[in-house]
Amino acid sequence: MKTLYITSESLASYQGPKYLAISHALRQAIKQGQVKENEQLPSARELAQQLKTNRHTIMAAYNELIAQGWINSKQRSGYFVASNLPINSSQPATKNNSSVNQDFKWNFVKTVTPTNEPVAASFQFNFAGGTPDISLFPFHEFKSFVNDAFARPQLAELNYGNVAGFSPLIEQVSHYLRRTRSLTDREIVITNGSQEALFILSQLLLSPANSVATEAMGYAPAWRSFQSAGTAVISIKQDENGMIPEELEQAITNQVTAGQPISVIYLTPLHQYPTTVTLPVDRRHAIYKIASQHNIAIIEDDYDHEYHYRCQPLAPMASDDPNGLVIYLSTFSKVMFPGARIGFMALDKTLAQAVTNYRSLINHKVSVPMQDAIARWMQAGSFERYLRKATKIYHQRRDFMNQQLIQYQERDIVESFTLPDGGMAMWVKVNQSAKALAKAALNNDIYIQQEAQFLLDKNQTSDRFIRLGFAGLTEENIEIGLQRLFDQKNA
Ligand SMILES: Cc1ncc(COP(=O)(O)O)c(C=O)c1O
Repeated sequence: MKTLYITSESLASYQGPKYLAISHALRQAIKQGQVKENEQLPSARELAQQLKTNRHTIMAAYNELIAQGWINSKQRSGYFVASNLPINSSQPATKNNSSVNQDFKWNFVKTVTPTNEPVAASFQFNFAGGTPDISLFPFHEFKSFVNDAFARPQLAELNYGNVAGFSPLIEQVSHYLRRTRSLTDREIVITNGSQEALFILSQLLLSPANSVATEAMGYAPAWRSFQSAGTAVISIKQDENGMIPEELEQAITNQVTAGQPISVIYLTPLHQYPTTVTLPVDRRHAIYKIASQHNIAIIEDDYDHEYHYRCQPLAPMASDDPNGLVIYLSTFSKVMFPGARIGFMALDKTLAQAVTNYRSLINHKVSVPMQDAIARWMQAGSFERYLRKATKIYHQRRDFMNQQLIQYQERDIVESFTLPDGGMAMWVKVNQSAKALAKAALNNDIYIQQEAQFLLDKNQTSDRFIRLGFAGLTEENIEIGLQRLFDQKNA
């Protein structure tokens, strides 16, 4: 009789009833070829002895496998592996019996180079700048709005159609934008996060025949979307206040000469990504004026508007847009969590129609139950209640990180930093190679971002700046994480 390599230890790691753990382990044994098709399995008594368990537990496991078609029971003979196993993958995938032709050559007409960035969330001390503290999210409360969405579904909305978004959510977002950001008279389009918005805009507005202007340091996922349309991303010099208008003007002239005129400017005016500074009013006006003169659109990516600690934040550029050239986009990724995949654009009618037309090519709509739950959450006032709570906590964490960094500054480890008025991260100048610091941090279970990651031209790096997110970590973890970061031997 066959002895199967199943140990009581291997079963212990399975979460759930023991008989299911055993049936799971048996299934694995069959998949791995420990027992072949039609081969007899140990009797229930033998296996019970081997696994130091009750015979009835083994019989329950066998019955489970019979029901799933993995084994058969033959009267008075015992249990046998089925001759026709339920899934192909249960057989070892050799080249001869595999249904996948591994010799097929794909002719890709487009490829996307992977970023090869580590997954920030897999590190114990994740200082990635845009990370909210998801554990603060009121899942229990939100669940009741999800329940409502299913208890009283709007059947017509659950069907195809209504590409721009779920009407009650559009209404809530419009109302919220009007009240908190002075944004009025715009069409709202709900998107699968800002990334989808950026991709659609790239496809509609950019091509190899034009170019897009961004600050020298910025948000690489946006650039990657722009570049996917074949356009050139032009780096505009920035200083401690953000994009320099005179540099923009010069680049516009250069690009006309080069035959690739700038047709879009991409900005994160409220909290410049990654340096966190707010683009001052005079610069906003200067950039807007230049854009109007040259018929250039502005994408205003207002990704973390909600978090401000000193006073009311500046209203978006889109709120003072007489020429209708500002494309406003924002996201729920920071006020909920990135996995929600809900964002929105506030647009003029013509662009909104073009965006929805294009979206229907790649996706019919955004998940309606999620939109429905968010709309109910907003309408009940719970969304803003949670926002107030998160803002208060992030404010405390910002102040805590500020105190910590002052101590490192006194020890000459941190050279300088400015306390940001809002947002979720700090831009910090250190006294050593930022790149080496970030690299060594990975080995100490710490993730930080460093200057070169944000530069269009990586060679321009001073190699002295790091970005430290404070929102996603408790004060205790900020303290321990910074201690570990700055005390690492190999930094
Ligand atoms: C500048 C910027 N824009 C947008 C986003 C949000 O993107 P999404 O809505 O696709 O999650 C982020 C997130 O980090 C960001 O930093």
